[in-house]
Amino acid sequence: MTAARFPDGFAWGTATASYQIEGAVEEDGRSPSIWDTFSHTPGKVQDGDTGDVADDHYHRYEEDVDLMAGLGVGWYRFSIAWPRVQPAGRGDVNERGVDFYSRLVDALLAKNIRPWVTLYHWDLPQVLQDAGGWPERDTAERFAEYAAAVYERLADRVQHWTTLNEPWVSAFIGHATGRHAPGLQDPEAALRAAHHLMLGHGLAIEAMRAQGRADSQFGVTLNMTQVDPASEDPADVDAARRADGLTNRIFLDPFLRGSYPADVLDDVRGVSDLSHIRDGDEQRIGVPLDFLGINYYYRTVVRAGGGSRDAVSQWVGNGDIEPVSRGLPRTEMGWEIDAEGLYDLLTRVARDYPGVPLYVTENGAAFADVKDADGAVHDPDRIAYLDGHFRAAHRAIADGADVRGYFVWSLMDNFEWSFGFSKRFGLIHVDYETLERTPKDSARWYAGVTAANGLRE
Ligand code: FCB
Repeated sequence: MTAARFPDGFAWGTATASYQIEGAVEEDGRSPSIWDTFSHTPGKVQDGDTGDVADDHYHRYEEDVDLMAGLGVGWYRFSIAWPRVQPAGRGDVNERGVDFYSRLVDALLAKNIRPWVTLYHWDLPQVLQDAGGWPERDTAERFAEYAAAVYERLADRVQHWTTLNEPWVSAFIGHATGRHAPGLQDPEAALRAAHHLMLGHGLAIEAMRAQGRADSQFGVTLNMTQVDPASEDPADVDAARRADGLTNRIFLDPFLRGSYPADVLDDVRGVSDLSHIRDGDEQRIGVPLDFLGINYYYRTVVRAGGGSRDAVSQWVGNGDIEPVSRGLPRTEMGWEIDAEGLYDLLTRVARDYPGVPLYVTENGAAFADVKDADGAVHDPDRIAYLDGHFRAAHRAIADGADVRGYFVWSLMDNFEWSFGFSKRFGLIHVDYETLERTPKDSARWYAGVTAANGLRE
């Protein structure tokens, strides 16, 4: 292998999300989120796991910041729990909730780690779900109000603001397949949720920019996948167009071009009359962005199957689309390992949506890590995975993609949504009995990458 040095100033970091690590779900005035409700509903999460304690990061954040410093990372992407900040989902701010994040930000800055805030990583206050949740337009207004309140308190120390993490997952896994909170199987509601998430993003940025600071950067993070057809058969090629539309372009186009792609709207007319899209919405969604965050885990290859378009599917109204396995090695999530997919994705976004700086805001892998008798965690598969994906990003940069940073998912093992604690993504191992943290081999390896600003050989 050859060395792969990244551009000067490249942002190396790690990422986490509030519900996956914090615990302390009833402390300091936090109200329940939809993930508390979902995880406490029997049968929804593997082994009945919940985020009640998770990594107990709420109490151990100082230790966690020290561990981060040991990785040599200059950046940390974390999310803010809306129900801590605004337990009623509107109106009064719970200053004790904000104070936790304020202390976290100070602890990071004291170690020269720059905080990168995600305002919404899936933990909607349950009270807002009771009022209809994201399928209701009012939730977009509520989100803007919440965002402005957080921004007002932290923007003196936080420059990077991501509105939403993966609105596709919130909308379609939450409301169409039902595998995530709030657990609905209602394709029409899923499309409404997608729209109001995007509208909330636009309104939130408007409200934050109105506070008039010049030093803030605003963006959004999408989970993206390179979508390819299983064959050259026109039906498969069309299935790939539809899957790409309903995964990537349904968000990319409104956010970066200020309008929905016409073919995607046509593809969903069987499940929605689209009357929730009002005049002027697309323009508000298309506010100028300072960056686009991309979360990449796998490539998707699809074919046109024989099933009904009405079948339950992540691609609403297109239930005939079938993912195809290529027999590649997989992670513990069952996701095929394909670093080239990241290269293809970054160069494609740079080509089709030029002019916006890109950050890989998540990439990483779950493997069945075990602590050996000496207390070490050897995770060569994770090191190989990250090495391959870093090199793919490096080549994309060499070929013109404006990629400015890379955040490994995740800092430490945590609550992996409907898989509970069964999937370990961390650079740092967490013992869920004792909550002891142990850096894995990959943590030491990553410290070498951050120190060298890339791969030495
Ligand atoms: C992403 C999520 C993140 C984590 C990884 C594995 O979709 O943003 O919270 O669960 O997948």
